[in-house]
Amino acid sequence: MQQHLPEESLLEINHLMVHYGGIRALNDVSLRVRLGEIVAVIGANGAGKSTLLRTIAAIKSPSSGSIKFEGEPLPRFADRVVSKGIMLVPEGRRIFAPLTVKENLLLGAYTRKSTREIAESMETVFGLFPVLKERIHQRGGTLSGGEQQMLAIGRALMSRPRVLLLDEPSLGLAPIVVDALFQKIIQMNREMKLTILLVEQNASLALEISHRAYVLETGEVKLEGTGVELLHDPRVKDSYLGVSGIAGD
Ligand SMILES: Nc1ncnc2c1ncn2[C@@H]1O[C@H](COP(=O)(O)OP(=O)(O)OP(=O)(O)O)[C@@H](O)[C@H]1O
Ligand SMILES: [Mg+2]
Repeated sequence: MQQHLPEESLLEINHLMVHYGGIRALNDVSLRVRLGEIVAVIGANGAGKSTLLRTIAAIKSPSSGSIKFEGEPLPRFADRVVSKGIMLVPEGRRIFAPLTVKENLLLGAYTRKSTREIAESMETVFGLFPVLKERIHQRGGTLSGGEQQMLAIGRALMSRPRVLLLDEPSLGLAPIVVDALFQKIIQMNREMKLTILLVEQNASLALEISHRAYVLETGEVKLEGTGVELLHDPRVKDSYLGVSGIAGD
């Protein structure tokens, strides 16, 4: 499809192709994330959402296409992507179950040296997620699903990222917990000036909080627009919002 792409992108992906062996997971994907935006990528199981984030994070290599950050090609080594300020919060959270909340958070600061600055970042995380402070000595594996997601995000924040890549933060959480978590995502965007690329199957919520969004279908961008435009697009309503879509709509 002909894609309209905004100017002045922080993250700029052009014609990305990604394969697993002979299987094509992403086909000619182009997308932009501008400074300060929340951009959502929605799509069904297997659409290629995680592949997209893992490729940006240099965990997976593309077959072709380009990924630029601030106009420069993004390094293809995962630790260099982190040091550029791009941090992935992976699907399924992947916190360290035997380690305490504090130990998990400190792992997120592994690239940093100043103990004073690390302590400041931890206070910032506790300001955003007070429950983590209450549970600072509790083992990660004993936290609730919602608390584990907060810990996973908190751990990512400990590297002081500029861009957060969030892979299905709502997965497996009760609706009330998801609502609270999405409020925190808005707060990180507004107050901490974080640019966010959010991958979600919970399309209605993701579109509600995003400035712009892309619909990924079997590895291809099928639709794009502002969050509001896509929320009201009949094709999105039919395929992704279902009957329980938007209250009152
Ligand atoms: N390690 C892998 N080896 C082979 N194929 C893979 C691998 N990881 C993903 N795929 C395939 O690539 C396609 C895209 O998968 P991906 O995990 O990116 O989708 P997704 O949109 O994140 O799905 P979900 O919503 O279920 O998390 C799927 O067809 C999947 O089977
Ligand atoms: Mg996925």
